[in-house]
This record gives sequence, C-alpha cells and structure tokens, in this order.
Amino acid sequence: MTTSVSDRKIPGRADYKELARSVAALTEGETDEIALMATVVCEVHHSDSRFDWTGFYRVTEPELLKIGPYQGGHGCLVIPFSRGVCGAAARSGETQLVADVDAFPDHIACASSTRSELVIPVRNGSGDIIAVFDIDSDLPDAFSHEDAAAIEALLDSVFRRL
Ligand code: SME
Repeated sequence: MTTSVSDRKIPGRADYKELARSVAALTEGETDEIALMATVVCEVHHSDSRFDWTGFYRVTEPELLKIGPYQGGHGCLVIPFSRGVCGAAARSGETQLVADVDAFPDHIACASSTRSELVIPVRNGSGDIIAVFDIDSDLPDAFSHEDAAAIEALLDSVFRRL
C-alpha cells in the first residue's frame, strides 16, 4: 500500500518533492481522467494548511467549465470561460495568481471566506486545455510563484500522459 500525503494531516507548507513522489506512486499506470483528478486533488488539498478549497473545473464543452473532483465546501457547478479567475485561466491558457480576490473585478465568490487564489490550466499530451485546477485560501496573498511552478509541474506529470 502506497503511503499518501493525505494519510497524514500536515500543518504548514507543502513538501512539493514528497507530494510529487506520492502522486506519482498513487497514479502510476492510471489514465482515467476523473480517477487522476480525484487523487491529485486529495493529495494536494491535504498537503498544505493554506489550501482551503482545492478542485478541478473541467472543460466539458467549448467555452464552458463544469465542476470536477474537489475538496472543501461546495463549489459553483458551472463557470463560462468569460467569467471569474477560472475562466481567465481557461481562456488565456495562463496561470492566474490572485493575491487579493477583492481586487480581481470578475472574481466569483463561491465562499465568502476566500482571500486569494491560484488557478492553473491543465493540459493533456496534445497540449489541449482539459481543465483548470483551482486552489483557494482564506489567507490573503497565500501563494507564491514557487507554489505555482511546483503545482504546474505536478499537473504536467500527471495529465500530459492523457
Ligand atoms: N473563485 C473562482 C470560482 C471557483 S470557486 O472559488 C470554488 C473564480 O473566480 O473563478
């Protein structure tokens, strides 16, 4: 049985090397998109106490995101590409690091406690955006460029196999 990050409640910051190791072991040989998303979101969410809501929004039809596997309180079910931080990540193909959600004019508040967020486009092996990965924190300015780079690498290591 593989030891996973989510077996333990870890106070503080993610150990990204450990997270990458555990996600690689848990997802080895798996190619089902939802199984991979569910495993990644569980591991990432429990790796770091700054992460209060963690989840995928999947591209289910042109210009539309629908909720995928997540951890935390309930998330909005549907987000068009034209709206919110998630929509901005999906339509631009660029990671969105939002230090203060109140300063992002089009932020969609699924939880009023959210103060900052990090949204990363998720690409498959053909380079198509299949989803976005959204991490929300109740702390202001919770995320760094190092967090973004580490999570981008983790997502590539899992979803580029599809
Ligand atoms: N805040 C996101 C919406 C998703 S929820 O926060 C779970 C946005 O502005 O796109």
